[in-house]
Amino acid sequence: MLDETLDLLAPAARESAVPLFVDCTFGAGGLSRAILQRIPGSRVIALDADPHAVARAEALALEYPRRVTPVHANFARLRDVLAELEMGGVSGIAYDLGLSSLQLADAARGFAFAGEGDLDMRLDPTSDAATAAQLLATAREGEIADIIFEFGDERNARRIAREIVKRRERSPLRTTSDLVAAVLAAQPRNARGRRGGIHPATRTFLALRIAVNEDLDRLRQSLQEAIACVKPGGRIVVISFHSGEDRVVKHQFAGWRRGGEAQTLTRKPLTPTQTEIAANPRSRSAKLRAAERTRDALRRSA
Ligand SMILES: C[S@@+](CC[C@H](N)C(=O)[O-])C[C@H]1O[C@@H](n2cnc3c(N)ncnc32)[C@H](O)[C@@H]1O
Repeated sequence: MLDETLDLLAPAARESAVPLFVDCTFGAGGLSRAILQRIPGSRVIALDADPHAVARAEALALEYPRRVTPVHANFARLRDVLAELEMGGVSGIAYDLGLSSLQLADAARGFAFAGEGDLDMRLDPTSDAATAAQLLATAREGEIADIIFEFGDERNARRIAREIVKRRERSPLRTTSDLVAAVLAAQPRNARGRRGGIHPATRTFLALRIAVNEDLDRLRQSLQEAIACVKPGGRIVVISFHSGEDRVVKHQFAGWRRGGEAQTLTRKPLTPTQTEIAANPRSRSAKLRAAERTRDALRRSA
């Protein structure tokens, strides 16, 4: 949905000689690169919580001198980051939520059930936040069940949580395969081996990653600050992959609309085309929403 994101961001650049964009989720840098290539004279603040992604942003900064500012930060700190940089008004802010394929492919990060790695799952492995293994070792059974049910939409959440707690009494769950084994053992007998579609551990891994990184709270915090960070006429584009994330975005956009702070540019969320889904099956649940800060916002808040 790169083209749609750019089409929605580009008009906000019209009124600035040097339009400035914030890519809150730099990842592999596809969106930042597209902004630099397609919006003349643009500059990008390239932000990511993952130091590996920031290293890629630093490489892009060498390719585009004076046009890219890499920042290692969680996007929940958006307002402070912009204040520290003192770079002036922002034309647009983009969020492409979730994980990059590079993070999923790196088994050592613990995000994927397919590879063997420690159960870390932190976007920022240099932070002192608890890992997924620590969370599973310390949370109560009910808390684990709630996480898996709420963030993973997993109907077997209670059985999985019970199995995790049973196993951790014998020995802590430390690796991705420890968790996969617990999830498989918790499958109801009649579901084993015949549940088509996704792997039985998919939803549990997703739920834990969301809990470890407090994804929904971070997004809520960031969006609350984002509207004051763009200039009047500036745009905010969010691509989400999870119903909980999309609810946060929808709710925030509705709040801005009611308060006269921004208008929604996407009456219904945009979704990927069949061609995009065929090329990248992970994009099938993507939803894109965009909003524009009200042009007389300064007058309203004065
Ligand atoms: C789907 S990828 C972005 C892909 C990117 N648009 C591209 O074109 O390559 C999501 C990225 O967002 C980062 N991320 C997720 N939540 C974050 C947060 N709260 N703060 C900062 N970065 C975050 C992840 O580390 C990951 O690198």
